[in-house]
Amino acid sequence: MPERLSIIFAASEVEGFSKSGGLADVARALPLHLKSMGHDVRIVTPLYHLIPENHKTETIIPALGVPLGSEESWCAVRQLEMEGVVDGKMISVPVYFIEHDHYFFRSGYYDDGLHEYPDNAARFGFFSKAVLQLCRALEWYPEIFHANDWHTALLPFYLRQSQQETDEFKQSSSVLTIHNAGYQGNAPGTFRNSLEIPLDYFVAELFEDHNQLNLLKGGIYFADHVNTVSPGYAEELRTQLGSHGLHEIFTRKGENFSGIMNGCDYDEWNPETDPHLPACFSATDLKGKKQCKKKLQEIVSLPELPDVPVIGMVGRLTWQKGFEYLLPALPQILSLDVQVVVLGSGEPLIANAFDKLQQKFPTKLGWYNGYNNELAHLIEAGSDMFLMPSLYEPCGLNQMYSLRYGTLPIVRRVGGLKDSVIQFDEKLETGNGFIFDDPDSDSLSEEVELAVSVFYNNPRRFKKMIDNAMKQRFAWKTAAEEYVALYRKTLN
Ligand code: ADP
Ligand code: GLC
Repeated sequence: MPERLSIIFAASEVEGFSKSGGLADVARALPLHLKSMGHDVRIVTPLYHLIPENHKTETIIPALGVPLGSEESWCAVRQLEMEGVVDGKMISVPVYFIEHDHYFFRSGYYDDGLHEYPDNAARFGFFSKAVLQLCRALEWYPEIFHANDWHTALLPFYLRQSQQETDEFKQSSSVLTIHNAGYQGNAPGTFRNSLEIPLDYFVAELFEDHNQLNLLKGGIYFADHVNTVSPGYAEELRTQLGSHGLHEIFTRKGENFSGIMNGCDYDEWNPETDPHLPACFSATDLKGKKQCKKKLQEIVSLPELPDVPVIGMVGRLTWQKGFEYLLPALPQILSLDVQVVVLGSGEPLIANAFDKLQQKFPTKLGWYNGYNNELAHLIEAGSDMFLMPSLYEPCGLNQMYSLRYGTLPIVRRVGGLKDSVIQFDEKLETGNGFIFDDPDSDSLSEEVELAVSVFYNNPRRFKKMIDNAMKQRFAWKTAAEEYVALYRKTLN
């Protein structure tokens, strides 16, 4: 087996070009780290409408035919080099953009803000097939096809189909990483023909789910190896309760299903160098953190009270993040001597609830509806605690950022949160955050009250937790090494 592996990394979003959540962060950081280890890794992603406005790309294939079903559609392929720093060294990874105006030049990636695009299965089925066609056009036959989430779940299937027809990809294998099994790519069965899914594959073990297509399910079956983004979530996916209905499918994969904890991009998220902050800080000198708090309170129009704890929250406004029990708990939490700052975009229902709460608690709740990377950095830096009460959380990146910024996470004991946050132990003085178990408002409020009381009544303990938090690291290098071991295993 070659020392240097060739890997095509297919993702529906990549940080720097398109991003709705943590998948984008991973799709940038992991390839950069694989490249820094010497592997030939290249990214392929759709060309969404704002990308050509903001980035200089070169068209390398003006017309690429993609046969799918009874039709052949055409796209172009553009390319640029994505640059990033790994261990102080500049690394660049080629990114191929699949250009198809009808499918990808839309206002959103997956929805129009209210409704999912009804042709999502066709859009991403086309994209997955285009990945194989691109490799053929480049006469580059990578050893590893790395797919991510339901959007590219058909890639392992198309690869397997193609391996049965020709020898081109006979040395290749596929890995499917699941960042969120709550989204499975369900589509009406009528898409079956146009996606080349044979009738005898429209069965419960493969692509069928309540008489619909389930692209993720089929992808799991056909991928040579499936992994998810934390060992904790991998464990939950094998159970009826935590698997979003897919536990039998995951259990059936046996040893070919595992968990690899994501890393954290400490070049981007480092309080000692963060250019988005009014002042930098470190574990040994937290003065800058106080300035960040002051700036944060000013920006979200809250009273500038240095001694009142600020509880921050950043994320997609989806029910996954625990809003069902957080929203009813907030009046109780806001009656404490605290300030809460929330940044998020997504579900209008959740956004409306925050609008109303802000009217009721104007001096206690700072609320910003939208996507704002700069403010996300300031919230991580300027808050004292960070709330992530998720119903489920495959890995979670925000709690990793908050640990690095000495902002103690308050999380529910699920998925990657339970793998990264450690409950404080008074005797041993270990621990870096606060954890609750039950997905209900009372358990959540109690844990927040505990955190607030430690803040006020036991500053020495709180400081010790900050020290512990800021020392913790989730290295991408370690995660990338685990991926390489997994790639090699699939090639054996
Ligand atoms: P998920 O992928 O489920 O959304 P993660 O915690 O893994 O959750 O990753 C979320 C990523 O998206 C983080 O990098 C976070 O800072 C960013 N993010 C989410 N919502 C916003 C927002 N409204 N503004 C800025 N950044 C956001
Ligand atoms: C998903 C998950 C999140 C994870 C991210 C990156 O969107 O919801 O927990 O951190 O993907 O893997």
